[in-house]
Amino acid sequence: MFFFISIAGLFVASCAAQVQQNGAVGDTVCREYNTYYKIQGSCDSYVECNAYKATYKTCPDGLYFIRDVEWPTYPCAYPSDAQCDAQDAPQKAMPTEDCKHQYGFFASPLATRSDCGKYRMCVEGKAFEMECSMGLAFNPETGRCDWPDLVPTCDAEAYLGFKCPPATYDEFGKAYVVNFSIKGSCYYFFSCMEGVARLLLCDEGYAFDSTVNRCMDARRVQCQEGQ
Ligand SMILES: *[C@@H]1O[C@H](CO)[C@@H](O)[C@H](O)[C@H]1NC(C)=O
Repeated sequence: MFFFISIAGLFVASCAAQVQQNGAVGDTVCREYNTYYKIQGSCDSYVECNAYKATYKTCPDGLYFIRDVEWPTYPCAYPSDAQCDAQDAPQKAMPTEDCKHQYGFFASPLATRSDCGKYRMCVEGKAFEMECSMGLAFNPETGRCDWPDLVPTCDAEAYLGFKCPPATYDEFGKAYVVNFSIKGSCYYFFSCMEGVARLLLCDEGYAFDSTVNRCMDARRVQCQEGQ
């Protein structure tokens, strides 16, 4: 029994020593061989335990620690995929001339209300100008590409170049969805609901059939791209 306890004690002691050695990990002790622990009060710092050895780490500026991440997955992610709670704070930002954080997706100076698919991706503080998939707008609040009607900084009609007719409702007050073909496109179409347009793309193998206003088996749809 004494033997067992002293071995266990050694383990804890050696972890504690590592913790000390690696800086301000406080009282974090590795209870598992390999794992991550969140640091209280921080959005982006964590302890990594590797073979019971604790190391204090901080995500790159602009990324947050993923609290339910499983070792050995990389534990840092964009704020759109990891949370930072109100009681936690991230590290001090390390902005560059072009980027407010070293990493992340930010509003682009090239974007306008009618051209809202543009955004800026920052990697190691360097800016890359990017564009959302066709028909989607960048939402600076979430750092994601989203439906233009959900992005306050976007004039969806101007951006899509399409205005839906006024909404129509069935006898239960439910809005009808209406599809519209796009001249010159076999696969994209506009779908209107409650007067709001979204640009959709038929699934693979399907093409938009303007005789029935929906996607059908592409081999049976008479359509020529660009005509
Ligand atoms: C619009 O097109 C989609 C895709 O084919 C289809 O699922 C949907 O039922 C269509 N809506 C209407 C009202 O035709």
